[in-house]
Amino acid sequence: MYNVKNVTKDLYWVGANDRRISLFESVYPVPKGVSYNSYFLMDDKTVLFDTVDSSVAHQFLQNIEYVLQGRELDYLVINHMEPDHCAEIQTIVEKYKNVKIVCNAKTESMIKQFFEFESDESRYMLVKEGDVLNTGKHNLTFVFAPMVHWPEVMVTYDTTDKILFSADAFGSFGAVDGNIFADEVDFAARYMDEARRYYTNIVGKYGPQVQMLLKKASSIEINMICPLHGYVWRKDLEKFIDKYQKWSTYTPEINSVLIAYSSVYGNTQNTAEILAGKLANLGVKNIEMFDVSTIHPSYIVSEVFKYSHLVFATTTYNMGIFVNMEILLSDLTAHNIQNRKVALIENGSWAPCCGNMMNEIVSKWKNTEIIGNKFQIKSSMKSNQEEELTELANAIFESMEK
Ligand code: FEO
Repeated sequence: MYNVKNVTKDLYWVGANDRRISLFESVYPVPKGVSYNSYFLMDDKTVLFDTVDSSVAHQFLQNIEYVLQGRELDYLVINHMEPDHCAEIQTIVEKYKNVKIVCNAKTESMIKQFFEFESDESRYMLVKEGDVLNTGKHNLTFVFAPMVHWPEVMVTYDTTDKILFSADAFGSFGAVDGNIFADEVDFAARYMDEARRYYTNIVGKYGPQVQMLLKKASSIEINMICPLHGYVWRKDLEKFIDKYQKWSTYTPEINSVLIAYSSVYGNTQNTAEILAGKLANLGVKNIEMFDVSTIHPSYIVSEVFKYSHLVFATTTYNMGIFVNMEILLSDLTAHNIQNRKVALIENGSWAPCCGNMMNEIVSKWKNTEIIGNKFQIKSSMKSNQEEELTELANAIFESMEK
């Protein structure tokens, strides 16, 4: 049975939700599932924008059959050649014999890497930046957006209805629950954290490339954004674009402190708790603490993008940094985190060394400053160390914008 939604009079959402997936890209937990959005334009020519992940192919193919109403499929526009969107290219090509794949040269070579279907060059309509495809009433123009999130990515702009098909940009984790427009749900309360987690973990490394896309987008009038995951935007676009401005420039959203800690027997946690309490006493609001061993790093990476100040408190382990903290720091490095203020706490029962090792990692982050002195505990914090921890709390507080 089809499950299709009208986006406009002649544009349809023909995607589907996967609510059984546990790890997106085999890495990221998606407790609310994920939507794979595909769109269909009914015009003199029929156009499908991207496909879906193979997990939802059955639903998707029924949707296509329904919206076509017996017509041929003329064009398949591929904005992003990652298999969560393009797993069904071969099925579409084999089912709709005359469909032309509209893509750029990089995408064509990736299609040939992923698939082995028979196709001569007449199957492809290769486009360059700024090319226009007229489908009858609509004109589609193509804007390249390399590395948002893969090198072949482009976005498509329907100049007739001023709709941007934005590929991975402006997407979110989480299935769409019947409604497909962001203004039909309490997006800020229910989805913004998942949109941030999606952006930071999937595209976060490529801030400058996202900035380039935002610059291009700022020169066109946009009435609607249709991303490949999550809700469609037709109201308050500027609020979401503002978030993208912050995230892609690694600008903190809030002036507060995030404490990420690991604790084998509770003593490092205890120190982190005391520091959090001292910061609260100084008047810091919205302090947030994460145990790196129980919270998946993707959630912490996302929150780190939000906070101005970070504290990493961890244990020396195998003469190195405790494994889950090491994973988090390596993840943050990979995502190009920058523009932060950082304080460090180390624990070690006989040869504490993780503080210097964390310092070495964090020092390489662009425009990032280490605040105060590294605070060291040996096995557990002692009462005669309280003043030193107070000094660290004061140093963090003093470095915050007032
Ligand atoms: Fe949703 Fe980069 O794929």
